[in-house]
Amino acid sequence: MNTRMLSATAALLALSLLTPTPALPQNVIEQREKLMESSDKAVRAIRAAAKEMDYATLQVRSREIVEQMGKLLPLFPKGSVSEKSLAHPDIWEKWDEFTKHTDRVSAVAERLAKAAAAKDDAQILEEVKTLGGLGSGACGGCHLSFNKKRMKKN
Ligand code: HEC
Repeated sequence: MNTRMLSATAALLALSLLTPTPALPQNVIEQREKLMESSDKAVRAIRAAAKEMDYATLQVRSREIVEQMGKLLPLFPKGSVSEKSLAHPDIWEKWDEFTKHTDRVSAVAERLAKAAAAKDDAQILEEVKTLGGLGSGACGGCHLSFNKKRMKKN
């Protein structure tokens, strides 16, 4: 009797451990990290393309960034923080400011695509600089305020 009860308890315990937990913010965090990594790839491709004035690649990759910026905000639902995530809680305190950074990056990427279409080399170089990267320019502007790894330490 005792052993039967014990094994019943064990079975229940095993069941409760197997029950799936509700969707965690972790999922959304992974999605936005993936998206950010693709933005990083696009920026690297843009820099390489700017060296050779590869107008087609510049256009395609700039449009990619515009698209990515359009997908970024929904991947930051309120309170989606974790130990591993680099998202700073200020994001939800200063949501308007946060969203302005995506607008800014999109605007630069749009201008870059136009400059590439017009084969305007000087403008291309200017916009590539304005776009920046992880710690500079338009991308970096958001990171310096809201990405824990890249925030100003003062
Ligand atoms: C609106 C703000 C915002 C903009 C704009 C933005 N990022 Fe991010 N980025 C973040 C945040 C916040 C994280 C941290 C996400 C997490 O870990 O949950 C991040 C993480 C990253 C990461 C991975 C972590 C790291 O710091 O190495 C890369 C790579 C990255 N971003 C690249 C870019 C590039 C390239 C651009 C511009 C095309 C860009 N980001 C524009 C907010 C932004």
